[in-house]
Amino acid sequence: MKTLFDEINLGGIPMRNRLVRSATFESGGDTEGRYDRKMFDLYRELADGGVGLIISGMVGIDRNSRISPLMVKAYDDTFVGQLRELTELVHGCGSRLVIQIAHCGAKVPKTDLGEPPLGISGLPGEGIREMSKEDISRLTDSFADAAARCKEAGADGVQIHAAHGYLLSQVLSPIFNKRADEYGGPVENRARLIFDVYKSIRRAVGDSYPVWIKINSSDLADGGLTFDESRWVCEQLSKTGIDAIEVSGGIAASRESSPARRVNDSQQEGYFYKEAVLIAESVGADTDVISVGGYRTPELLEQKLNEGNFKGLSLCRPFIAEPGLVNRWRSGKTERAKCVSCSKCFAPGGLSCKQKAV
Ligand SMILES: Cc1cc2nc3c(=O)[nH]c(=O)nc-3n(C[C@H](O)[C@H](O)[C@H](O)COP(=O)(O)O)c2cc1C
Repeated sequence: MKTLFDEINLGGIPMRNRLVRSATFESGGDTEGRYDRKMFDLYRELADGGVGLIISGMVGIDRNSRISPLMVKAYDDTFVGQLRELTELVHGCGSRLVIQIAHCGAKVPKTDLGEPPLGISGLPGEGIREMSKEDISRLTDSFADAAARCKEAGADGVQIHAAHGYLLSQVLSPIFNKRADEYGGPVENRARLIFDVYKSIRRAVGDSYPVWIKINSSDLADGGLTFDESRWVCEQLSKTGIDAIEVSGGIAASRESSPARRVNDSQQEGYFYKEAVLIAESVGADTDVISVGGYRTPELLEQKLNEGNFKGLSLCRPFIAEPGLVNRWRSGKTERAKCVSCSKCFAPGGLSCKQKAV
């Protein structure tokens, strides 16, 4: 019988329990893309609050990757020193830290150099430039460099962001990827860039450093990535040594395709649970699977853990409302998380719970 509070090794990282803070973009950089001091307070509160592992909000791998000037630059000279400080803080509170490395692609409103944003395919009318082979080669190098910096800073691992309609998610999606070369067409081709990024990171950090990925189990949109395609990509990544896969979904094109949905009752909790179970069955013991999406009630979390063969559970919005949620549950106060999934936390003005009722 698995419990939420089992000490486990998740994707190569020993943890005090099975609960993960899913990546949450904190708008936590100052205007130079360096960690703001408020970020350190936020991470201290989370780690003190008992969570087993924190996945950072996405950090930008290069000069055209950041969705906002407040996104931390993994390529800034100060990144390693700042991240070392953050990692030591999190470790000092008994938690673990994985850094989510990302390229926001066509979603970037303005690149650092004022150049047109990059897309896997071009959208000239919208000012999106199609990636050339040189861009692709630079991208794989930049992901590898970012991962190497995270390792140098002592972070416990990295997570490649390949979900929710950002660049590596668009790469997999026929809605966005219209290329006619070896990076477009059938899923074997569309996944090539993700495989290249993963291999490049692996070469940079070595075989034993934890490399995770967050991936869409499907795009939840007509003509988008399907579940069978996603499962195939996960199987290939598992065969080449990825340590953990966090199973999400949706490209946020509509309310139905949102990765962060309303959760009104326990029936709606764990809305990508089925997909996580099937992917865990496909990849077997070689790769750990983490299920994310709408988990709120501890009894239900434990039930899902025991019905499916995945290892970790991750939550995002509940930790914005209650950074001390894990300690609360652990102390026996097992009421449902206070988060009402209104998603007002996405609103501008810094990361906080903006639902007055909470
Ligand atoms: C404010 C906010 C910021 C988020 N930032 C990220 C991010 O940087 N990277 C990511 O992969 N997912 C991000 N997500 C999605 C969450 O990690 C998670 O997949 C989703 O919210 C569902 O989990 P939940 O129901 O526990 O909130 C974000 C969600 C919210 C609400």
